Amino acid sequence: MSSIVKILVLSCPSRLTAQGFFGARRSINLNRTLVHSDLPPSEKTFDRIRQEVSTVTGAAFEITASALRVIMYHIYTNDKIFQRLNEELATVAMDYSLKQLEQLPYLTAVLTEGMRLSPAVASRAACTTNKDLFYKDWRIPAGTPVGMTTLLMNTDESLYPDPTRFDPDRWLASKTAGSEARKSLVWAEMYLLIAAIVPKFRFNIEGAKASDFELESDNFSIGTKAGCNLVVL
Ligand code: HEM
Repeated sequence: MSSIVKILVLSCPSRLTAQGFFGARRSINLNRTLVHSDLPPSEKTFDRIRQEVSTVTGAAFEITASALRVIMYHIYTNDKIFQRLNEELATVAMDYSLKQLEQLPYLTAVLTEGMRLSPAVASRAACTTNKDLFYKDWRIPAGTPVGMTTLLMNTDESLYPDPTRFDPDRWLASKTAGSEARKSLVWAEMYLLIAAIVPKFRFNIEGAKASDFELESDNFSIGTKAGCNLVVL
């Protein structure tokens, strides 16, 4: 097993179970949940279960990887970010817990900035609410589909000056960095992976620039032209 994989395998699952992340060490198994659910038998076919599993694994793997890719690119191409993160990570004990990582302001700001620039979906996401919405002089009646594109909101210059710049500092004074969303599996993965990798590895990133990680095509997920080599120094 290569050393980077070994480090991740050794560091991450143990910290998750030690936290009781899934609640008193109860493991959640999608297949079992579906098979033992009260869905009618026609909904429990092999094909149906396969589709569910591929949706969840696709959504989980691809999207988390995209956000981590943006984050890793900026950590390893910006010495100041790399150093500040390492200095902060050096303040936690060797046997740190997920909870301790969640308290680190700079790590949280770095992850939040990555999530801002890589919010998974490029397409307009429609939703409805069961309450009336008010926008300027308009009342949008309950039940009306409303569409928003997260990436456009996340790169709105009036909210985020110089919006394509990866700048964790913009979150340091903010109470919303990470916030409640941090209690999700995704955040746990990102905290643990970055804390496991950054203090132990120095990479050189070859063949990519920051703009390669920006939206190039709407594939429902965010299509970019990024492709690069990670060289371990
Ligand atoms: C950085 C990580 C992630 C981000 C930013 C993210 C974000 C999103 C967004 C914006 C949507 C679309 C919601 C909508 O249609 O309104 C979505 C859908 C979904 N996500 Fe995630 N997600 C991430 C990781 C994960 C993980 C780790 C899992 C599972 C363990 C997961 C499972 C799903 C599923 C099942 C869907 C619904 C797909 C569908 O409706 O076909 N996601 N995600």
